[in-house]
Amino acid sequence: MITNTELEYKGNLFPSQITSHKKEVDKITFYTKNNVALQISFLRDSVLRFRYAAEQDFETDFSYAICDDATYGYNYLGIEEKEDHFTMHTSKLEVRVSKKDLRLAILDLDGNILNEDELGFHWEESYHYGGNIVKMSKFSQESESFYGMGDKPSQLNLRGKRIENWVTDQFAYSKDQDPLYKSVPFYIGMHHDTAYGIFFDNTFKTHFDFCNERRNITSFWADGGEMNYYFIYGPSVAEVVVGYTDLTGKPELPPLWTLGFHQCKWSYYPESKVKEVTNKFRELQIPCDAIYLDIDYMDGFRCFTWNKDYFPDPKRMVAELAEDGFKTIVIIDPGIKIDKDYWVYKEAVENDYFCKRADGPYMKGKVWPGECNFPDFTNPKVREWWSGLYKELIADIGVKGVWNDMNEPAVMEVPGKTFPDDVRHNYEGNFCSHRKAHNIYGMQMARATYEGLKKYSFPKRPFVITRAAYSGTQRYTSSWTGDNVATWEHLWIANVQVLRMAMSGMSFTGSDIGGFAEQPSGELFARWIQLGVFHPFCRVHSSGDHGNQEPWSFDDEVTNITRKFIELRYQLLPYLYTMFYDYTENGIPMLKSLVYFDQEDPHTHYRNDEFIFGNQILVCPILEPNSKGRRMYIPRGNWYNYWGGEVSKGGKECWVEADIDKIPIFIKEGAIIPKYPVQQYVGEKEIEELTLDVYYKLGKEESNVFEDAGDGYDYKKGRYSLRTFKLTGKENQLIIQQFKEGKYETPYDCFKINLIGLPFKIHAVEIDNVEILMEEVMINGDGNMTIQKEFTQLHIKGF
Ligand code: GLC
Repeated sequence: MITNTELEYKGNLFPSQITSHKKEVDKITFYTKNNVALQISFLRDSVLRFRYAAEQDFETDFSYAICDDATYGYNYLGIEEKEDHFTMHTSKLEVRVSKKDLRLAILDLDGNILNEDELGFHWEESYHYGGNIVKMSKFSQESESFYGMGDKPSQLNLRGKRIENWVTDQFAYSKDQDPLYKSVPFYIGMHHDTAYGIFFDNTFKTHFDFCNERRNITSFWADGGEMNYYFIYGPSVAEVVVGYTDLTGKPELPPLWTLGFHQCKWSYYPESKVKEVTNKFRELQIPCDAIYLDIDYMDGFRCFTWNKDYFPDPKRMVAELAEDGFKTIVIIDPGIKIDKDYWVYKEAVENDYFCKRADGPYMKGKVWPGECNFPDFTNPKVREWWSGLYKELIADIGVKGVWNDMNEPAVMEVPGKTFPDDVRHNYEGNFCSHRKAHNIYGMQMARATYEGLKKYSFPKRPFVITRAAYSGTQRYTSSWTGDNVATWEHLWIANVQVLRMAMSGMSFTGSDIGGFAEQPSGELFARWIQLGVFHPFCRVHSSGDHGNQEPWSFDDEVTNITRKFIELRYQLLPYLYTMFYDYTENGIPMLKSLVYFDQEDPHTHYRNDEFIFGNQILVCPILEPNSKGRRMYIPRGNWYNYWGGEVSKGGKECWVEADIDKIPIFIKEGAIIPKYPVQQYVGEKEIEELTLDVYYKLGKEESNVFEDAGDGYDYKKGRYSLRTFKLTGKENQLIIQQFKEGKYETPYDCFKINLIGLPFKIHAVEIDNVEILMEEVMINGDGNMTIQKEFTQLHIKGF
């Protein structure tokens, strides 16, 4: 046992005994003899906030992460004083605070410990910077697992790892490299089938140790700021993730086309090259919705300018691309070239919008354009100005999306790859150094971009992509995982990163398909596309300093495989959009790692590869060359092999065939999977029918389809269509009931039904209780039928 005296000797300071406490409506504050204060806020019965002040004064309460419309309100709050501790109850949790040393324990109402302080809160004075290094240590419970934490390229279960959050431009990173581009100081702890979450909302460099330094201890600390964390009770992993996403916010629905396929490269120029690529997509009939312009479209890498030699008439080009179904997306970086003749630079100088060093000069650093200054996006006025800069690009030229890069902020040719610590920031009027603002700089840039796009895209919806992020960034933008490499290991990394991001509230993420650095083999590209079409953001990107990385850059076999999987994505658009709706509406991650899906099955606790796409499709990437298939874990339940139809009983590991033209895909029995016809881009075709792949189950299962106009804000006024299909399978019957919500009229009223796995021969069909002639509905024999109207009940009877 480590004593406080020993630790104090090592420079750590600890709270002493509680001398008083104060109860306000939803807060209780304890004060210790040595002036430490602990404030516990009861946000919800299952969400508590703990703030510590080492000298009784709390900092101004401000957070970039916490969303304005997070849910608040609890049913019950009681406090009792016991001999050696205080105890507080909500209707779900109990918190005990020790009178002797302020250490706390959080329990469920059956008295099970969920989370318990070891040393609890302690701190070290920061001689160099002022303030404190704030620390927390807790006991890890028996067999505890840890998940979450943003883009860490490590096994999903972080037990045994120590990690750091400091957003970093990390070109060609490797497995387990840390830190990377995002800072999400949120983890999920799970033990005894029970999960809870901790969100340490501190924007300084933060550190987490999950039983790495000491076997049974989990600790987290920050280089400055406050010990300020939220505790989110499950008991399911799902409830924790949903609770965290409620606190840090959900995005609005993106335009439907953003869920299509995107093609990018550093760089497509001049205009003729861009057209060559887009024309080839149409010629080869490979669906694609978005084409990207990387930094070379600019004049000398000056943001908000065009290189007129390469792009003489951007407005015309963007319109012509749009005619052909392509949305143009352009990159915008934070570094503004120091150039007295450049309007953006001049405006920023005139208005004093650039970040400054501690002693006064502007922060100067090298990025693509050479020496640059950098807007202080933590100043609301600067964000407003930045938003306004998009007027021409969006409202006039017709660009449909903006890609914010280098916003860690990245600085070249300096050791830390970013600003020095002394750079000053406004931080919404809470002036501070870069130590505090670094992790949210990129988030605030993306926010300003989002606000500009939202304004100038109206009445359509905006689309932004960011590389750097902090918790809550999902409210404004999608993201990608940065500069990866064309290796098989990176395919593994892409998979865990995107899954981890989904568990960390940021579902709309993807990797550079095929790898950014180096050249993939055709086989690797094909395997990456097969995974990439199941990632919420689906874009091929490459650095361009090697060979090409378009779907046709390899051989015909790879081109055909690529087409097949992109087509599958376009067919699954209504399913994908419904997943997105569930994310924006309920905070449900679009991808679910197996532990999220079935935490009660201990086999899932250490699985990395398999995941559930939405609620009913199980996918597992092929991660090795020359594979004919792989071993994978099928979670509990019965699953149809998508390619073959036979049903596997889950809860076991097995070999699954998947030659180069397949990726293991399984459909949960009872699922009804909605599909659109293949289109070359979203909106190419009027959707005349909805295909429903119905996977028979003996029992019940529910499926949904969300649709709306695919863009604009009418859905917020109730103009959406949410279909709920309730399937009930019996030995010789199948009943599908349909319930419809919302005022949107889908453009089709024809349903093509594919019946998969029916154990009986159909002899009669009733639609809305009226028996209809078999010839009227059946096509190609038994498995398919077409229903030419909206129905509320389909009853299939068999022998
Ligand atoms: C960075 C980005 C990459 C981009 C390049 C040039 O490396 O991560 O995606 O292509 O800069 O803009």
